[in-house]
Amino acid sequence: VPLEETSLPLFFGWFLLPGIQDKVRCTSMDFLKTLDTLEAFKKHLPDFTVEAEKEVDLEQYFQANGALHCTTKFCDYGKAEGAKEYADKPIVKELYGSAFELSLSALFVTPRTVGARVSLSEDQLTLWPADAEKEAVPLVPAAATLPAGSRAHITLGCAEGVEPQQTGFDLLEILALQQEGQEGELVEEMELGSLAYYGKGRWLLSLREPVSAQACFSSLYG
Ligand code: A2P
Repeated sequence: VPLEETSLPLFFGWFLLPGIQDKVRCTSMDFLKTLDTLEAFKKHLPDFTVEAEKEVDLEQYFQANGALHCTTKFCDYGKAEGAKEYADKPIVKELYGSAFELSLSALFVTPRTVGARVSLSEDQLTLWPADAEKEAVPLVPAAATLPAGSRAHITLGCAEGVEPQQTGFDLLEILALQQEGQEGELVEEMELGSLAYYGKGRWLLSLREPVSAQACFSSLYG
């Protein structure tokens, strides 16, 4: 009996190939290393952490997690709503195991998570679940009005005790502010791109050159 008929995976998603995983991790480390030395970051430190610290080492603050990937559908072995419907979609079956080029367009940091925004192409959006943004509405109400694919991201690290799914909510919050017309406070032109501050410890680095990441559409049974 094929595995897919006996159980569903923990999640489906695009898994970055090993070489590009290293590159993305290095880029993220470089960003964190620079960010926590900036005067602007130090100025907003009380928004970032409630602890009365004068400094924070962001590389220590965030814990890296597993193989880098962009989740499409979290299935929880079939317990998540819509899991079976997603797994049964012809496009999911057709593209399972195929190679893709993901475009990483921004890096973001909040007191909870650090992640990369993934800007999905039309082809990639065919694998994106229709309700991915709506699922976030209880936590991020404005997510209801954001375009499909807005939540697409790669979790690069989480603060202690924070679940990786938080990364998508943090990204949606920033995109919702942008949609409302808040540009963020332009803080600095960095080598990697322009850094903006969105309040409450939220930082977004729009990459000058998006990082193109080779990835395989597959699933993890965990
Ligand atoms: P993300 O995609 O933001 O990185 P876990 O280790 O908690 O079981 O999660 C496995 C993967 O599935 C992680 O990549 C995680 O977050 C994602 N994930 C976990 N729970 C959900 C959820 N309720 N909705 C969407 N994605 C989830």
